Formats: sequence, C-alpha cells, structure tokens
Amino acid sequence: MKPVQIAEGIYDVGVNDWNIRDFHGYSTYLGTSYNAFLIVDEKIALIDTVKKEFADQLIANISQIVDPRKIDLVISNHTEMDHSGGLARVMHRVGEDKPLYCSKMGHKNLQRHFPQNWNYQAVGTGDELSLGRRTLAFMETKMLHWPDSMFTYLKEDKILFSSDAFGQHYAGQEKFDDVVGDRIMPHAKKYFANILMVYGPRVLKLMEQVQSLGLEFKMICPDHGVLWRDNPAKIIDAYVRWSKQEAKKKAVVVYDTMWHSTEKMADAIASGLAAAGVDARPMHLRKWHRSDIMTEVLDAKAIIVGSPTLNNNLFPTIADFLTYMKGLKPAGKLGAAFGSYGWSGEAVKFINRELEAMDFELVDPGLRHQYIPEQDALEKCYQLGVKIGEMVGAQTA
Ligand code: FEO
Repeated sequence: MKPVQIAEGIYDVGVNDWNIRDFHGYSTYLGTSYNAFLIVDEKIALIDTVKKEFADQLIANISQIVDPRKIDLVISNHTEMDHSGGLARVMHRVGEDKPLYCSKMGHKNLQRHFPQNWNYQAVGTGDELSLGRRTLAFMETKMLHWPDSMFTYLKEDKILFSSDAFGQHYAGQEKFDDVVGDRIMPHAKKYFANILMVYGPRVLKLMEQVQSLGLEFKMICPDHGVLWRDNPAKIIDAYVRWSKQEAKKKAVVVYDTMWHSTEKMADAIASGLAAAGVDARPMHLRKWHRSDIMTEVLDAKAIIVGSPTLNNNLFPTIADFLTYMKGLKPAGKLGAAFGSYGWSGEAVKFINRELEAMDFELVDPGLRHQYIPEQDALEKCYQLGVKIGEMVGAQTA
C-alpha cells in the first residue's frame, strides 16, 4: 500500500495485511490493515506502528514522504502488538532518543513488551503537544479495549486518531468510507461485536465525555480499515446503538449436530420463530465462524443454543462458543437450550447453566430428545420457537 495523503501534510503510512484469515480467533475473510499516521508539521509525528512483520513496509512508506530520521516524536495509542510490533524497528530508524508518547498504562505495558530504555513521555487526558502550527490533544480511553488505550486528537484539523475504536478488519485499496460505501458497516459491526461489545457501557460514557467537551470530528482515523471522512457521525451513532445492545425482532439459533437430529430441532425452532414474525437464522457452528455468529448475537433478542450430548458433555464447538460469548457479555437476552442425545443427555443442563451465568432470561427448561426427533418432537420444537418468538415480539420494537 502506498502512503495516502488524508489531509494536507497528513498521511496514512500503514499497510494492508491482505491474507490474514484469523486474528486471535476472529475470522478476517477480507484481511485487515494496520494504519499508521504521519503528520508533517514544524515537528514531524508518527502515530502508531504496525505488526512486526510489516515494519519494513511501514518504514518504506514513511521514506516516500520523509527520511524516518527526521521524525521528531512517536505516539503509541495502544500497546497491542498489531500496532506496537513495529516499534523496535521504527525507533531504531527514527532514533532511540526521540520521545515516545503514550498513556501512563502504555508506558508500563510497552516496557513489558520491549526491553529498550526509550525516552517515554507519559501523557493523560487533557495533555496537549504542539507540533508548531498544529496541536495534538490526548484522551485516555482505558479498557477500550486495553488499559493503555488512548485517542490522539489533532485540534486544528479536527481529526481523531482513535486506535482500535471505530475500526474494521478490512483490507482494501480504498481508504475512505465514502469510497467503500455502506458495505463497510457489516465489518464495523463485526469488529464492535467481537472486540468492544463487552465494553459497551464504557463506550457510552466515552461518547458522553466527547459530547461534553464539544469535540467535533471532520475525520475519524482508526488503526484498522477505512477512515471515516464522509459522515463520522454515522459510525458514532452506530457505536451508541451497538453499545446499548438495542435488539431487533431477531433470534439466533446456534447449534452443532452429530447425526442431524439436533439440526432438525434447530430448523423446527427457527420455523416457529419465523411464524411468530421473528427474523431467525439457524447457524451451524462448524459452518459459521464464532465471530460471525457473535455479530448476529449483537442485535438479536433471543439466543437459542442446541447441542448433542457427547461423552456426557457438551459438543466441543458449543463449549467453545459459550465460552467466547460469555466473555463478550451480551446483555438483555432471552435464552433457551435444546439437543438430541443417545443415553445420558446432559447437554441441555450444561447450556442452561452457562446461559444463566450470562444473566440470560431462560424462557423454558429446554428441550431434550432421545435419538431422532419425529413429528411430535419437532412440533414441540416449533411451538418453543413460536413461544420465544412471541416474547421477542413483545419486547422489541
Ligand atoms: Fe488492533 Fe487492540 O489492537
């Protein structure tokens, strides 16, 4: 990726990671990008770096604009290695004595990742840094999504460098929202659902803080995916909506199956939900990636989980999914369990236990069926779907 001038004297010098398909357990079908930003003013600042293996590409991109040795300061908005992995190469080229700005937690965390004794300059919310004609302001955004995370705001240009927030795992030649269009929104939603859902209340507080400060954004530049320049309010509004976990008239029926019996139950439950006017999709866990299912969970009102019983236990993909979903703390959901079994049938009990631990409202004790469900059993599944569908209808707009 060649550097892209995003405003006068400001460049995205980051890289595309076209072929990454798994980002610590999150499926990235279209790759991702690691964005990094160069601001050329009286002082030259670099905001963030890239994954370690792309550091040379980052330096080559910078070199097309300026000699890296002319960079006066480096800012690290976030310690996670997809943005700091290139720091050692970069600091070596820029100069080990150049100031490295980061949050107080960033200082602590970066020291745990890198042994070098860099010239750390810890900053906090309200601190400012003049580049000459332009001013950078820092805002700590703890736990969005690491303790060290912070935003950097370029006051005169009204550009927010937002680290992971507002990002999308998307690699493309296009660098702006208006070029990609609305097809970027599902990627932004997936990113929120899988990285930030758990921090929804913090996101809402941050949005309030930003509003109270009266900050305007002409452009929001996350560290992944496209930059929001057309209508930054659109992604902010989406973040507020997603943070509240506003549910649609929608249910997710997530399941796995050994000999199609639990699958038949899933289909019948989904039919009942649909008959009650609810958008319902049965999602087989070995056909759908857990991160795609979580994207659907974000705005679904009911999550119905089905598992065969295998060796007196949950089917492994279901255990994986329940663990993943629990960590992301979906809120305000209705839940139910179902599953076929051969001789012991513990799966429904174990699913119920997990759904209760997630504070889901269990709407039924759950449906267990031995071996193959025939018409009577499938009718019970259908009726469970209708019952949950009616509850979803009553609790959503
Ligand atoms: Fe893109 Fe939290 O790193």
